[in-house]
Amino acid sequence: MSSFPRQIWLSVLLIIMLLPHSAFSKKADTIDELVAMYNITPCAECHEDKHDEWKSSTMGNSVIDSRVLRGFRTFIKMELDKEKTLSRKNLTICLNCHVPHIKDASEQLIVTIADMVITSMEDSNVDKREAAKKELSKLNINCLGCHNLKATGFNSQPEPGVIYVPNDINTDAHKEAGYKTIKSEFMKTSDFCAQCHHCPPDVPWDKCPTLYTTYIEDFIGKGRKETCQECHMPGEEKSHKFLGPDNSDFLESAVTLTLNARATRYIDIYEDKMIPTLALKINLTNNAGHTIPHG
Ligand code: HEC
Ligand code: HEC
Ligand code: HEC
Ligand code: HEC
Ligand code: HEC
Repeated sequence: MSSFPRQIWLSVLLIIMLLPHSAFSKKADTIDELVAMYNITPCAECHEDKHDEWKSSTMGNSVIDSRVLRGFRTFIKMELDKEKTLSRKNLTICLNCHVPHIKDASEQLIVTIADMVITSMEDSNVDKREAAKKELSKLNINCLGCHNLKATGFNSQPEPGVIYVPNDINTDAHKEAGYKTIKSEFMKTSDFCAQCHHCPPDVPWDKCPTLYTTYIEDFIGKGRKETCQECHMPGEEKSHKFLGPDNSDFLESAVTLTLNARATRYIDIYEDKMIPTLALKINLTNNAGHTIPHG
């Protein structure tokens, strides 16, 4: 008699435990809730090196970067606050790339974030500015932004709870930690980066001049083969520092890049266009060390 209701209770409990993944999946109302929904603490524990590199990178700080904060502030005050059809909740326009998991934030949270951006830049009280900035620093492009949300490309839906990886690997560790692992070759392509570093595919090519446009036209179009990853995530270990011009060594390598680009054009114009890529590369590498461009 008495054990029957208890069984029902147990099944109700079980159902409640299972629900949060489906029916209960609700939008985050606070930054901490959003962070918890895309928790990367386990990734950091097992991939400490990747985590440390990423944390120091621009994409690990894609909101509190001082240029970005300034840009967001200007956009909020000059556009969102002034334009009648827009309001602060429309900061999602920017956050979609700067914090991809923002898609699971409530409208109220977007407004709170917009208010925090203004506080972090303009409040007369230093402590309040710092506190707002500290909260905002929890928002960034994190492991799951790339290894889940952006890992399958524009027109396909990633599965929740999956870690997408670029190579065939032993998935035991992930399985034990509660994750499914799926291989995504797409992560090795420049199109993976273009999801955020270029316009969406339905925007006409000539309406969207970006770094990616010049990459395709002036670089790939001239016979070069390197992907974004090969230059920006160098080495066997695929560095997650995502080096840019802020790094002096990397910027120095830009000299090589410029030289290479010029040399490529030189070869295009004056020599046989059919020179195999491999020979081209060796040629350029030899030049790189000493011949600084004359003009
Ligand atoms: C319990 C430890 C553990 C946790 C937690 C974990 N990983 Fe891993 N992960 C590993 C191990 C071990 C490998 C290497 C397997 C191999 O090389 O065969 C791996 C491999 C990977 C790879 C592929 C490496 C390659 O060579 O292609 C990626 C990407 C990855 N993990 C991302 C993540 C992300 C993102 C998270 C968090 C959502 C995460 N991992 C959580 C242990 C873990
Ligand atoms: C399609 C994705 C995408 C969207 C949408 C987007 N950004 Fe960005 N943003 C980027 C990328 C990628 C970079 C890094 C580009 C670089 O350094 O060349 C960046 C860099 C920036 C920077 C710093 C570099 C600079 O050019 O000063 C600011 C400021 C910025 N974004 C503000 C905004 C604002 C404001 C919005 C909304 C109106 C916005 N972004 C929307 C992808 C995006
Ligand atoms: C901006 C996107 C981005 C972010 C953020 C990111 N990754 Fe990656 N990660 C990649 C890409 C792209 C590759 C594959 C590069 C390749 O093989 O060309 C990769 C590869 C890896 C690998 C395999 C490296 C190897 O040995 O081949 C591991 C492990 C990994 N990521 C873990 C992480 C962890 C942990 C985090 C968070 C701390 C993280 N990643 C954040 C894009 C990202
Ligand atoms: C989810 C969107 C997203 C993806 C995917 C992404 N990026 Fe970014 N990336 C950004 C944003 C936004 C910024 C600007 C952050 C800032 O300025 O604080 C940025 C900044 C950078 C920077 C630093 C630029 C600077 O001026 O310092 C480099 C380099 C970079 N990304 C390379 C890559 C590469 C390479 C890939 C592919 C492996 C990639 N990104 C994938 C959104 C993305
Ligand atoms: C041949 C190597 C190479 C390739 C391929 C390459 N980059 Fe770069 N990239 C560099 C170097 C070197 C710099 C730093 C010098 C500079 O900013 O002029 C740089 C700078 C950047 C910056 C900072 C831009 C700025 O305006 O200061 C971003 C963002 C970036 N790259 C993203 C990408 C993306 C996305 C791809 C693929 C579509 C890509 N890169 C392909 C070498 C490369």
